[in-house]
Amino acid sequence: MRTQVGIIGAGPSGLLLSQLLHLRGIETVVLEKHSREYVLGRIRAGVLEHSFAALMREAQVGERLDREGQIHEGFFIAHDGIKERVDLRGLTGGKSVIVYGQTELTRDLYEARDRFGGVVMHNAEDVRPHDVDGPQPYLTCRVGGEVVRIDCDYIVGCDGFHGVSRQSIPKDKIRVFERDYPFGWLGVLSRTKPVSPELIYATHERGFALCSLRSEALSRYYIQVPFTDSVDDWSDEEFFEELRRRLPGDVSSALITGPSIEKSIAPLRSFVVEPMRFGNLFLAGDAAHIVPPTGARGLNTAASDIYYLYHALVDHYSKWDNRGLETYSQRALARVWKGQRFSWWMTMLLHRFPDSSPFDRRLQETELAYLFSSEEALASLAENYVGQPF
Ligand code: FAD
Ligand code: PHB
Repeated sequence: MRTQVGIIGAGPSGLLLSQLLHLRGIETVVLEKHSREYVLGRIRAGVLEHSFAALMREAQVGERLDREGQIHEGFFIAHDGIKERVDLRGLTGGKSVIVYGQTELTRDLYEARDRFGGVVMHNAEDVRPHDVDGPQPYLTCRVGGEVVRIDCDYIVGCDGFHGVSRQSIPKDKIRVFERDYPFGWLGVLSRTKPVSPELIYATHERGFALCSLRSEALSRYYIQVPFTDSVDDWSDEEFFEELRRRLPGDVSSALITGPSIEKSIAPLRSFVVEPMRFGNLFLAGDAAHIVPPTGARGLNTAASDIYYLYHALVDHYSKWDNRGLETYSQRALARVWKGQRFSWWMTMLLHRFPDSSPFDRRLQETELAYLFSSEEALASLAENYVGQPF
């Protein structure tokens, strides 16, 4: 089999790139390790930038997002028993974010790939890129017991943090920058009315908590837990009891609880690999970088990678102009690091660190006090939260 661009991974990055390229007449084949049901069963991001929505519209998949996505013009930070609002709209000159689940967005992308006859091979085992530093790269995998070979011009690794793409690059050709945090987020999805129409990020001596949502009848809550905890350590009752303790009194008394329909733990990690290209293999999204979810940057940063790569590939195929491909890594990384800095800052501000000293605690308290006493500090937070331009 032959295609122009072979894509590894059918998460949001891989599907969006494949759909955008298709609309510009560029052929792709997407190889996905898991089944479609598995990919759609993952509950992850909820907050999208408007530039992401614009890219979805360009890919002709923005209709439902525009209809069902909720515009959020602010969010709250709760601390010391009170909650203070970050007025995104007022602080950024009219900007906001959109609450629309990654699951829904992935569903929309799958439907579009079906509609346009896109090739997405599921349950592709042992996917491997070959000869990526030569002129004729190819992919191999096993599908239903048969070995498949796909020759392509370029390979794009959209296979997330644990994927094969990054791991197939020789170690001496890349540099890794990383930081692990000694905790994770335990998340619960429940069919209940959200406690607040706007997100609440809460910092408390017992740890961080987040009240988020997917719709008027679907809540998404998170609490910081030690990285050694597992989902089985937490019953629904224990989860909500702990969440209540970390929220201001008026919020916790208004909290409506219900059985979890999904419960999972996400470890917190900051990670970047440089460069994001090796020969004819390009990395995009979580395959190249991970942020702790605190700043809601992960998927949004994946979208900017896809934006740069999409334009670079279109320029290559339509004008034989390779400048976009040559500068992809540099351009993408410039934005990646801004997202890294912001996510790290939000994480340090709002979480409890087991080894923090009294000095560290005072700094955290002072940072919060400074934030809510300075329009400029709040404006900087808001500018980063709504997303920097691509
Ligand atoms: P993935 O979604 O990881 O997709 C990779 C795909 O590749 C998967 O389908 C996987 O099965 C497949 N794959 C893996 N290995 C192979 C292989 N060897 N062969 C073939 N296929 C393979 N981001 C935001 O912007 N806003 C938020 O509000 C937000 N909230 C989050 C909350 C949580 C709890 C978590 C965990 C993350 C959150 N994120 C958020 C981050 C966001 O979910 C990720 O950045 C996003 O999923 C990245 O998309 P991706 O397509 O690059 O990678
Ligand atoms: C979510 O709703 O899943 C969510 C929202 C904001 C974040 C992280 C996750 O910062």
